[in-house]
Amino acid sequence: MARYDLSPVEVPPVRTKYRRIRTRLPVPESLPIFESLRDSEPQSMMGQPPVVWDRAEGFQVFDRWGNRWIDWSSGVLIANAGHGRKEIRRAIEAVLRKPLLTAYVFVHERRAELTRALQALSPDPAGYQVFLLSTGSEAIENAIKLARTWALEKHGPSKRYLVSFHNAFHGRTMGSQLAGGMEGQKRWIVGEGRTFVQVPFPDGFKNEDTSFDLFLATLEKRGVKPEEIAGVLTESYQGVGPDFLPDEYARSLESFCRGHDISLIFDEVQAGFGRTGTMFGYEQYGVKPDLIVCGKGISSSLPLSAVIGRKEIMALYPPGSMTSTHSASPLPVVAALESLNLIEKEGLVEHARRMGEILLPALEAIRGRHPERLGCVHGRGLVAGIQVVEAGTRTPDPETARRINLACFHKGLLMFAPVGVAGECLKISPPLMIPAEALRESISVFGEACEEVLSEPAR
Ligand SMILES: Cc1ncc(COP(=O)(O)O)c(C=O)c1O
Repeated sequence: MARYDLSPVEVPPVRTKYRRIRTRLPVPESLPIFESLRDSEPQSMMGQPPVVWDRAEGFQVFDRWGNRWIDWSSGVLIANAGHGRKEIRRAIEAVLRKPLLTAYVFVHERRAELTRALQALSPDPAGYQVFLLSTGSEAIENAIKLARTWALEKHGPSKRYLVSFHNAFHGRTMGSQLAGGMEGQKRWIVGEGRTFVQVPFPDGFKNEDTSFDLFLATLEKRGVKPEEIAGVLTESYQGVGPDFLPDEYARSLESFCRGHDISLIFDEVQAGFGRTGTMFGYEQYGVKPDLIVCGKGISSSLPLSAVIGRKEIMALYPPGSMTSTHSASPLPVVAALESLNLIEKEGLVEHARRMGEILLPALEAIRGRHPERLGCVHGRGLVAGIQVVEAGTRTPDPETARRINLACFHKGLLMFAPVGVAGECLKISPPLMIPAEALRESISVFGEACEEVLSEPAR
């Protein structure tokens, strides 16, 4: 994870319609806040560019000292409908005024509206149901549990493997990390997870073999038979790229799962709710997952997640036995309803697709100026990533990625810290309502930052 220096530096002032930088960065007056956190929190929480968020509205983030950034983070792909939308705030305020701040799994009316609305977005509304939870990891855990319960009940204990992909990220709880594909993140899990198996992801850059044969061959080599697999779990695109499956691969995977009664699980925690220019990422491939895991952009704000799944699978647990304390908590539920409304009313899915037509060619042009250092550009809609590499290789260069990220921050363009397998990927994910003019301005800032950093003499 990137480390950011907390010594304030002079940066040229910026004053445009969308961006404003008028202090040293980090802001000297903000340092006591960082220091207090450094003392009271684990360092794991301190990996982002040093800004103290005071207010976030639409596609902009503001601090308390008069600085304002165009946001390319959406938090972390949360604020799909935009930060702090007044429609979402009003809906939350109405519930606050009632008041109804919690209800456990006693029924409240808005919960019924939300499960209906999400069911309507599923591949076949008559055949799917919706279970509401709070975080992406929690929903992933639930999907794994459902896939394995289905396999156990229908086929017995030998159908037990959960197959997922190298470089996958599904969260930080135990089951979600066992299903993840980053070995370094799993060192703490000693002696568990023999039934969690990862295979290469067909991204085309880190792994050039994008054939489905590699999936089959890897399982065979690992001694895993198709009839022993309970579920296959994949992100709709892998966050580290973003890396997409080839369509043909996704369809072969679906047929493989159908042929062996394996639950096909798509993790839509990042990809869902319009990000890629379709409502869900799986729609890009023309497949129908059995279980769809949602989070982040579902509410554009408060913590909410969901598993949308085939009715037979969702019915496995009797009343009272598949719940969570904050399932369908009233405030996140109304936030999600209002966010869905905004996405629909403002045509944000289509807008994201169209903005992708501006973003991706522009990023390719930036890469074209530095083909030795910018390994590849991947993306669809309003999610994209550029891999920064050591000159002329595919070896990740996280330090240069961090410097470009910091240069953007100094110019009033906010990105979260670089991601990727080694922190080499500059990830771009603005709120979906960003207008074309602000998107163009932010792309040119990004281009300038790349130019400045990549034309410095090598360190
Ligand atoms: C694809 C994917 N799945 C699951 C998760 C976990 O979600 P949460 O952090 O809400 O537990 C994340 C979070 O980054 C994610 O990107």
